[in-house]
Amino acid sequence: MAGGFIASSGDSPAFPGKMTLYVFICVIIAAFGGLIFGYDIGISGGVTAMDDFLMKFFPAVYERKKHAREDNYCKYDNQFLQLFTSSLYLAALVASFLASFTCSKLGRKPTMQLASIFFLIGVGLASGAANMYMLIFGRILLGFGVGFGNQAVPLFLSEIAPAKLRGGLNIVFQLMITIGILIANVVNYFTSSIHPYGWRLALGGAGIPALFLLGGSLLICETPTSLIERNKNEEGKATLKKIRGVEDVDEEYNSLVQACEFARQVKDPYRRLMKRESRPPLVIGMLLQLFQQFTGINAIMFYAPVLFQTVGFGNDAALLSAVITGTINVVSTFVGIYFVDRTGRRFLLLQAAVQMLICQLVIGIILAKDLGLTGTLSRPEAIVVVVFVCLYVMGFAWSWGPLGWLIPSETFPLETRTEGYALAVSCNMLFTFVIAQAFLSMLCGMKSGIFFFFSAWIVVMGLFAFFFVPETKGVSIDDIRDSVWKQHWYWKRFMVRGA
Ligand code: BGC
Repeated sequence: MAGGFIASSGDSPAFPGKMTLYVFICVIIAAFGGLIFGYDIGISGGVTAMDDFLMKFFPAVYERKKHAREDNYCKYDNQFLQLFTSSLYLAALVASFLASFTCSKLGRKPTMQLASIFFLIGVGLASGAANMYMLIFGRILLGFGVGFGNQAVPLFLSEIAPAKLRGGLNIVFQLMITIGILIANVVNYFTSSIHPYGWRLALGGAGIPALFLLGGSLLICETPTSLIERNKNEEGKATLKKIRGVEDVDEEYNSLVQACEFARQVKDPYRRLMKRESRPPLVIGMLLQLFQQFTGINAIMFYAPVLFQTVGFGNDAALLSAVITGTINVVSTFVGIYFVDRTGRRFLLLQAAVQMLICQLVIGIILAKDLGLTGTLSRPEAIVVVVFVCLYVMGFAWSWGPLGWLIPSETFPLETRTEGYALAVSCNMLFTFVIAQAFLSMLCGMKSGIFFFFSAWIVVMGLFAFFFVPETKGVSIDDIRDSVWKQHWYWKRFMVRGA
């Protein structure tokens, strides 16, 4: 099979420079944006399972949950409850377009600072909420923080990283997302027993990394690309020297100036994105987001405690199981970091698709067979479900999770990079919103069938990856057109002849 579907790869230009302590510090500070995103993903499932929270804002859900002999699959089905989780992603969707504008006009650093300010106000409103409006408004501001952060941070990381380490450093963003989710799971576990305001502490916790991001962002530099893009060439060169730790940066500097000059000639990048030649990265970048979300990962990340309660765990055991899946998510991301530049992107996508498919099928079969509407699973069965959820999370964590962010960041040419990336981020947010808003209703309507639904999607995405996602390991991002798209059995027809 291979040859036809995998593009050949060239090598990244080896500019002088090393991984400096300063870059390391910048990476850690910026990646805090990912941590806050992860924290927000992880915290809502725990909070929406807390009785004090439900009693205050969702009394109807609380009543339904309390009553014996309730329908296992439907007890949490409430559009407003889902809106609490999903409103954040809808706001992030809109915000990522604004952020693409601030990213190119003001720079990556101020965009991160704006993100942290949105986060701080949002956290204050949500954790201090006296009514539903404050709560939802707080979530919306957090969503703005996520939109600004998710646009600026991965770009910042890719631009500041020495070329050789770009893939690995970019995945630090995903690593911080998973750490954020894990911290949220632990916080949920402890705050659930603090009555009646545990949920306020849980929501307020995001304020700590937001403060850290705001403070830290005063210390970091702007990226050389962004400075040169905005005609601050001298500053750009000085920054390049500082982050590479060498004086001899002429080659890299000149290539940046050239790329920026070419990018400047493109007056309307969105229009350019609609051109036939931009189709390959655009289609792949957007579909990867759809697929990433339709693996069903966030059904587990948002609603793990709810899901584990559904299969018969008590409140505490359910929160604890979420801590376990959270830990596995973090650890497995390191596997991705290790393999992404060795086995390549395609291998990880395909291997994980098979693994996740098997897991979804096993979980679906056990639930269909043994969890009736009002029954519970036996202990061993519940444990098997948790084990397969863990295996599933593992597969996602080293593949579709990080690669959903990495591949769009390395396949758009500079002239459409921030815009193409913004479209990918907003697609991610759109489908995250869809899953967050619909999952509990789907669980209620489809019962265990939901796992077969996600299985079907995994088959589709596996086939898509096999036929249409080229290998981009080790390819210079400025050479992607020649060494990837022009070599691909399908995408080559979108390249203008002779160009
Ligand atoms: C996804 C999130 C998901 C997380 C899980 C990220 O790559 O974009 O939606 O919750 O991975 O670790």
